[in-house]
Amino acid sequence: MVRSKIAGLGFYVPKNVFTNEDLKNYMDTSDEWIQERTGVKERHYADRLGETTTTMGVEAAKIAIERAGTTAQDIDFIVFATLSPDYYFPGCGVLLQRALKMKEIGALDVRNQCSGFLYALSVADQFIKSGMYKNILVVGSEKHSFGLDFSTRGRNVTVIFGDGAGAVVLQPTTKERQGILSTHLHSDGESAEILAMYNPGTHANHWTPQAYAKFDDAAMGELFMSHTMIDEAQNFPYMDGPAVFKKAIVKMPEAVEEALAQNGLTSADINMLIPHQANLRIAQFVQQKLHLRDDQVHNNIQKYGNTTAASIPIALCEAWEEGKIKEGDLVCLAAFGSGFTWASALIRW
Ligand SMILES: CC(C)(COP(=O)(O)OP(=O)(O)OC[C@H]1O[C@@H](n2cnc3c(N)ncnc32)[C@H](O)[C@@H]1OP(=O)(O)O)[C@@H](O)C(=O)NCCC(=O)NCCS
Repeated sequence: MVRSKIAGLGFYVPKNVFTNEDLKNYMDTSDEWIQERTGVKERHYADRLGETTTTMGVEAAKIAIERAGTTAQDIDFIVFATLSPDYYFPGCGVLLQRALKMKEIGALDVRNQCSGFLYALSVADQFIKSGMYKNILVVGSEKHSFGLDFSTRGRNVTVIFGDGAGAVVLQPTTKERQGILSTHLHSDGESAEILAMYNPGTHANHWTPQAYAKFDDAAMGELFMSHTMIDEAQNFPYMDGPAVFKKAIVKMPEAVEEALAQNGLTSADINMLIPHQANLRIAQFVQQKLHLRDDQVHNNIQKYGNTTAASIPIALCEAWEEGKIKEGDLVCLAAFGSGFTWASALIRW
C-alpha cells in the first residue's frame, strides 16, 4: 500500500522580533494582558519591503527540499497555503515556482486560513497515494504584519499574529508502519463572518444585514476598495475572539478523536500533538480534553504568535529539530480557524 511520508521539512521566520513591549508604542495594551489571554511573548515581523509571503515560503522550501534529498527541479507539484498572498491574484504558488526555477509543474493555492496547511497536506496526500506525483512541496506562509490594524481599535487581533513560513516535501512510501495514516477536513460556513477580512471583496454587503463595506457614492471602479472603506478602517481583519475560542476548543479535539477512531488508536498512543498555534489557552484546553501530558504536545506561540497557515509546519519542524519526533512516532496535527474550517492529520513518522 502506498502512503505519503514527510521526507523533508523546514521553517523560516524573519529576523525582526517584535515584543509585547514594542506593541505598546502603537496601541493601548500590556505585556501582562497579552501573555495572560494568548500566551504570546513576541512574534517575528517580515522586513517591511524586503520580504513577502512567497520569499519566506521559498526560504522554508529550500530547507525542506534539501532535507528530502531532492532538488527544486525534482518537485512535481506545489501546494501553497496562505491568507496573506503577495498579489490578490495570481497566487503565491506560481511566484514560488518562478523563484525556485522549477519545471513547468502545477501550482495550487489553498485559502483555508488556519486550517490551510492541513487542507494543503491532505490534497498533496491524495496526489501521492493516487500515484500522480512523487515529490510534492507543501508550503504554509504568512506576512500578517502588512495587513493588521496597529491602532488600539485593532488590538484584540493584532497582538496575536506573527509572520513566518513552514514547508514539507511529501514522497511515496510503501513501508508498512510509515506515513500519513489519514486526514480529516471540515467546515461550517454559518460563522464565516466571525473571523474574516471582508474587504477588498465582491460581497456587496450581500450576506448579512450588517454592512461590512461603505460604498456611499463610490463610482464604478471604486467598489472593490473605496476611499470610504479605508477612512473607516474596513480594510482590516475582524475577529469575535470569544466566539472563535468557544468553537475551537470543541472542534479541535473532535477532529483529533475522529482521526484516532478511524485508525483504531487512542490519545494515549499519540507521541506528539502539534495543535495549530491559535492561542496558548486553546491549545491547553485541547490538551486537557485529550488527557495528554506536556511532553505529548508542542507549543511555540510564545515565540512566534499565531502564524496561521505557517503555524503547524513551523511547530512540526521545530519539534522535529529538537528531537521530540522520532521514527515510528505517532504524530497528530490539528487545526481550527476562519471559515470556520477545522482539520486533523495522523502521521506515523
Ligand atoms: C482575542 C482574545 C485573546 C480576547 O480575550 P477575551 O478574554 O475574550 O477578551 P474580550 O475580547 O472579551 O475583551 C476583554 C477586554 O480586553 C480588551 N482588550 C482586547 N484586546 C486587548 C489588548 N490587546 N490589550 C489590552 N486589552 C485588550 C477589550 O477591549 C475588552 O475590554 P472591555 O472589557 O473594557 O470592553 C480571546 O477571545 C481569544 O483568544 N480568542 C480566540 C482567538 C483566536 O485564537 N484566534 C485565532 C483563531 S485561528
